[in-house]
Amino acid sequence: MTDTSFGTEVTARAAQSGANASARFRERMSTAETHTAAIDTARVDYLASKVVKSINDIILDDKVSYEEYNALKTWLIKVGEDGEWPLFLDVWLEHSVEEVASSHRKGSKGTIEGPYYIGGSPELAWDGTIPMRDDEPGTPLLFAGQVRAVDGTALAGAKIELWHADDLGFYSQFAPGLPEWNLRGTWIANADGRYEIHTRRPAPYQIPTDGACGQLIAAAGWHAWRPAHLHLKVSAPGYELITTQLYFPGDPHNEDDIASAVKPELLLDPKDDPSGDGLRVDYDFVLDPEV
Ligand SMILES: [Fe+2]
Repeated sequence: MTDTSFGTEVTARAAQSGANASARFRERMSTAETHTAAIDTARVDYLASKVVKSINDIILDDKVSYEEYNALKTWLIKVGEDGEWPLFLDVWLEHSVEEVASSHRKGSKGTIEGPYYIGGSPELAWDGTIPMRDDEPGTPLLFAGQVRAVDGTALAGAKIELWHADDLGFYSQFAPGLPEWNLRGTWIANADGRYEIHTRRPAPYQIPTDGACGQLIAAAGWHAWRPAHLHLKVSAPGYELITTQLYFPGDPHNEDDIASAVKPELLLDPKDDPSGDGLRVDYDFVLDPEV
């Protein structure tokens, strides 16, 4: 059966993706983007006390049993053993952190980064084609637009990093068997702040379901789907970097994304490309000045 073999392939790749995401996060933290040591003791006291009190309130209010408490303890241990803390946190909590971090912005909306970003992807001209296989499956997609400041100034030389899943929902450097930089690239906007990116339309995908997160999803009767999306980081000197995702209309999981990352402003409006080959979508980015 086609479905069975496809399912086996997905399961095998999902396990590898989760392990790779954890390893990548450890590497990034070891290069000191964030340190727990930099967080004030009083703030740790305040937040940790509030978390502990919130959980105790749930236990008391909802009369949590020893059976449920031990099931939770078993599951928390398994999240660590499966290397799925980055996955768990990015799927269920990062959207709130991002909302706090970007609440002051007047420019384009951002959303979560997720666990599959890799910095340093190949740099391309303003109208370059993303690295892909000769027979890369999927609908051709021309993604074009302009990077501007909130005052309307075109930002020449702005940097646009794009990474996304392939037509089966897999990311290079996380799922095995894909070229290192497949469907990952960095574009430098032209003198008018414009870019034209030639890529393929990505597919929706499920977060890995064969570890502790999948166990929770199954036990709670949830689904594991993320709608199809493009991941982007857009930056220019003197302006705040935007980390965002853009979504395609009509995807059923735009309404119930497991990562709660979809916002109305992030929905694309693709049209048939006038060349007759695939889709074209225009989307501009507006950056806030650094304060
Ligand atoms: Fe993604």
